[in-house]
Amino acid sequence: MSGRIGQRTGAPACRILSVGSFRPARVVTNAEICERIDSSDEWIRERSGIIERRYAAREESVVDLGVQAARVALERSGVDPGAISMVLVATVTHPLQTPSAAVEIAFRVGATNAAATDISSACAGFCYGLGLADSMIRTGAAEYVLLVGVEKLSDWVNPDDRSSAFIFADGAGAVVIGPSDTPGIGPTIWGADGSQTDAINMTQTLIQYRNEGGEIFPHLVMKGQQVFRWAVGEMPKVAQRALDAAGLTADDLDAFIPHQANMRITDAMVRAMRLPEGLPVARDIATTGNTSAASIPLAMDRMLADGEIRSGDIALLIGFGAGLAFASQVVRVP
Ligand code: UT7
Repeated sequence: MSGRIGQRTGAPACRILSVGSFRPARVVTNAEICERIDSSDEWIRERSGIIERRYAAREESVVDLGVQAARVALERSGVDPGAISMVLVATVTHPLQTPSAAVEIAFRVGATNAAATDISSACAGFCYGLGLADSMIRTGAAEYVLLVGVEKLSDWVNPDDRSSAFIFADGAGAVVIGPSDTPGIGPTIWGADGSQTDAINMTQTLIQYRNEGGEIFPHLVMKGQQVFRWAVGEMPKVAQRALDAAGLTADDLDAFIPHQANMRITDAMVRAMRLPEGLPVARDIATTGNTSAASIPLAMDRMLADGEIRSGDIALLIGFGAGLAFASQVVRVP
């Protein structure tokens, strides 16, 4: 045996430098959703907190949405697109097996020196991406990372399914992550429970649909109560572990920005974690719906725009959903 493999080391710390988001133009009200399902505006508001959501246009793709959010984040970061060394795209709604959404988004925003790949962790995808970006920057695998969370769930939802049609929506959020003097991303607490793949799933694979046919095109189905119970029972413990791992307590927080799954899940987490009264909590679901991997950066960008949080604030993030998969960390707001 001869020779020793050299290894790289990266920046001592990293942080989120900027956030940007994109909301598609079309507002879809509960009344419109109820044209196809036996439900009501009142029920949807009470059970999910959703008043309206956005749907992308038919010809607007996951890549189109992602590019819009990425351009805003890049512009705000001041980082030259050519200096981005990795583009990560968290999505489960890009309709092609290959190439990835990331390679297309990287090209279209001018990140032509970047490696690029997609992350398939559904609603946990954005926080998975932050965990990966943090590790890559500190090991020297990347210097600047563009992370996009983007979904066009309207393509994969059955508008006649009353257990899911009202909840999911379209949107995109993006962040640029880069080296910093002091840590801006705490340890990521993450995991996956493959015993519950049935909780959020597809009716068929595209291959089954081609070979065997099916009444309608393959789409998402969700066992809402099963996911709800898991989220409310387990996610406060995960978020607490992320807080502990960062060496902080709830009193150190300036904001709580959970995945926008359901307003009642957010409320239950706030109660279970005994978060301080008056702590700003993301409630973007009311007008944005559940946008899976896009929901956390969309909510963060809105809270900044509304003056609910400020640059430098400490926020607790948690993403959770299909898999079932979850990831949580504490970050400094860009
Ligand atoms: O983002 C990734 C992860 N996803 C989530 O975290 C979603 C988690 N789950 C949820 O958010 C909730 O389970 C839903 C919002 C999807 C559903 O709310 P729920 O309170 O769990 O409703 P349920 O399924 O327990 O149904 C309660 C009642 C039932 O009627 P009965 O049996 O009590 O008479 C349903 O038939 O509400 C009925 N129902 C509806 N009524 C009007 C179910 N769906 C609807 C509907 N409109 N769309």
